[in-house]
Amino acid sequence: MKVAVIADIHANLVALHAVMADIETWQADKIVVAGDIVNRGPRPKECFDFVQAKVENDGWLALSGNHEEFVAKLARQLQNSHCTPINPRQYDFLRPVYWTAKKLFPELSEMEALPFSQTVSAPDGSELYIVHASMRGNRDGIYPETSDDTLRTQIAPSAAVFCVGHTHRPLIRRVDSTLVVNVGSVGLPFDGDTRAAYGRITWDDGNWRAEIRRVAYDLQQAEHDFWQTGFMEEGGPLTQVMLAELRSARSLLYVWTKHYETPVLAGHLSMAQAVDDYLISLA
Ligand SMILES: [Fe+2]
Repeated sequence: MKVAVIADIHANLVALHAVMADIETWQADKIVVAGDIVNRGPRPKECFDFVQAKVENDGWLALSGNHEEFVAKLARQLQNSHCTPINPRQYDFLRPVYWTAKKLFPELSEMEALPFSQTVSAPDGSELYIVHASMRGNRDGIYPETSDDTLRTQIAPSAAVFCVGHTHRPLIRRVDSTLVVNVGSVGLPFDGDTRAAYGRITWDDGNWRAEIRRVAYDLQQAEHDFWQTGFMEEGGPLTQVMLAELRSARSLLYVWTKHYETPVLAGHLSMAQAVDDYLISLA
């Protein structure tokens, strides 16, 4: 039995199509989407609709990531209040998410209905258990540097294979009797390798194995989508940091927020200036 687990597409349709083509050549029996289909990228609706159609027609399984939760929450607020937040400085931080939320109004109920976990059972009854980040919640990531002791608390009660995404940094580890797999990110890897990542999980005659597969794709076309869809212009300055993440395969928004959130919210620095300063410091 072959199971492809894909996660953290982040509205990158070009990467999703490339991964799909790769999975088709592998001939997976089951495909599981482990959350963060949307947000921080230019094609949220297209990616969500693509996955949703596969769930409905082809037996794919999908679950919710922290970005589905966040986008759905903001979309509900937008629909109920019909206005943007009052503080314009705060609004600048959320502009890319509002842009995404508005695109996904028709899919809101489906997004909210995504479950926390999915399970794939092998013929011998052993289980592949999939969540977005860990059992402790959709923001509690499993990283290469996570200790075994912490990991035990993140995967309990453990299955034969425990599979996640969220950190955008792939790993395969064995802890006690559990094979732990972080499949990395399809649309926005943070391990320095710009190729899309997904997990190939195989059950064969009582044994589970895992492999992280990397897929090269047309990065220029993905960048083009950032501009062509209006994401860059309408999403505000922070989309420039997201584009830099795509190009570098590094987590930059987190670092930017740590350094610039306070001065921008206090009005000491404009959002545009804070983004410019940061991007120049990277060059
Ligand atoms: Fe993610």
